[in-house]
Amino acid sequence: MREFEEIRKDFPMLKEFTYLDSASTSLTPIPVVEAMNDYYYNYNSNTGRGNYRIAIKSTAKLEDAREKIAKFINGNHDEIVFTKNTTEAINMVANGLRFEKGDNVIVSSIEHHSNLVPWLNLNDVKTKIAKINNDYTVNPEDVFDLIDESTKLIAISHISNVFGSMQDVEEISKIAKENSVLFLVDAAQSVGYTPINVKKLNPDFMAFPGHKGLLGPVGTGFLYLKKEIADDLMIKNLGGGTVTNIEGDEFRLEDIPYKFESGTHNISGIIGLSKAIDYINNIKIENIRKYCNKLTNELYEKIHSIKKVEVYGNLNNIHHTVSFNVRGLNPYDVSKILDETSNICIRSGFHCSIPSLQSIGINSTIRASIHCYNNFKDLEKLYDGLKLISQLS
Ligand SMILES: Cc1ncc(COP(=O)(O)O)c(C=O)c1O
Repeated sequence: MREFEEIRKDFPMLKEFTYLDSASTSLTPIPVVEAMNDYYYNYNSNTGRGNYRIAIKSTAKLEDAREKIAKFINGNHDEIVFTKNTTEAINMVANGLRFEKGDNVIVSSIEHHSNLVPWLNLNDVKTKIAKINNDYTVNPEDVFDLIDESTKLIAISHISNVFGSMQDVEEISKIAKENSVLFLVDAAQSVGYTPINVKKLNPDFMAFPGHKGLLGPVGTGFLYLKKEIADDLMIKNLGGGTVTNIEGDEFRLEDIPYKFESGTHNISGIIGLSKAIDYINNIKIENIRKYCNKLTNELYEKIHSIKKVEVYGNLNNIHHTVSFNVRGLNPYDVSKILDETSNICIRSGFHCSIPSLQSIGINSTIRASIHCYNNFKDLEKLYDGLKLISQLS
């Protein structure tokens, strides 16, 4: 394996910036950008349509990406539906399931809005909320207690984008199966950081970004859609690529996954994502996991050691994301000062998860999040900046 300091050179932006916002979107390594450029320079063409050679090549590349993604999560290629992000994948499920009046869906109190609003938006379907404990995780038994005969689905994020806590999705999956309830996992913050095996975890749906932990380009994501359940899902977005025949006003749908993918794909993005998975596989997910855990622990300890700084999250269960506040200062001002004085890119606000912050009685935080291209010097830089700023309060 290449050393992480070598890997860092594949991300030219790091020469100028200390990037600590990977939970929003990660940086993209040079080989991924080059794979996308290669498509545009050399075989730019639509997929699944033309029979000229470059169109056959781009189609093959797209299907190769699907195969690679499936292998990466131990699924089958026809269970992978390309989307533009995690949010679109979750919405496909929320709007595709055949709910009956009075059904309910269970989520946790620390979901990202993308795994909350699509459920809240359903007519005649109640959203039940499992509260988190002091350790920022949901107790699977609390999820169990919320299940009743009208529960259709449990939808839980694997890792919190605010507190970095990992949920016991294995146990929640078992509970869902034992009670004949569908199970959706929002993997926005876990894929690319921790191994994912859908055969073992056994979700019915799993929503993924390409642009976060996987180091793929923005505009990419995918839905894992278990084969046995796929035909039960209504398709809300139809058009080119989704039908095999039309007679009069009758049309025949394509097989899975194509019937879920209407119109032209983000072809260069998907080709980039495919390269990103090669990139991750070369480093090995286990190495990324270990290295990021070390960095995260150091990040937590360092921030925690600064007087006047309050850190949220549990050191025993924290993954690549640390939220905190400097007492007496507005988080927005802190991130702005870090940017303008030290070129540190860090997010502040409610992180598209107002309920997460409400669950601990605050309304915004500063959030540092890392990936394998960060190093201990980046953490030192943040520490130095924060120490200075904390003297302002
Ligand atoms: C837990 C979680 N779910 C969903 C999303 C939405 O992801 P995307 O931007 O890929 O739609 C995010 C984004 O930060 C997230 O952290």
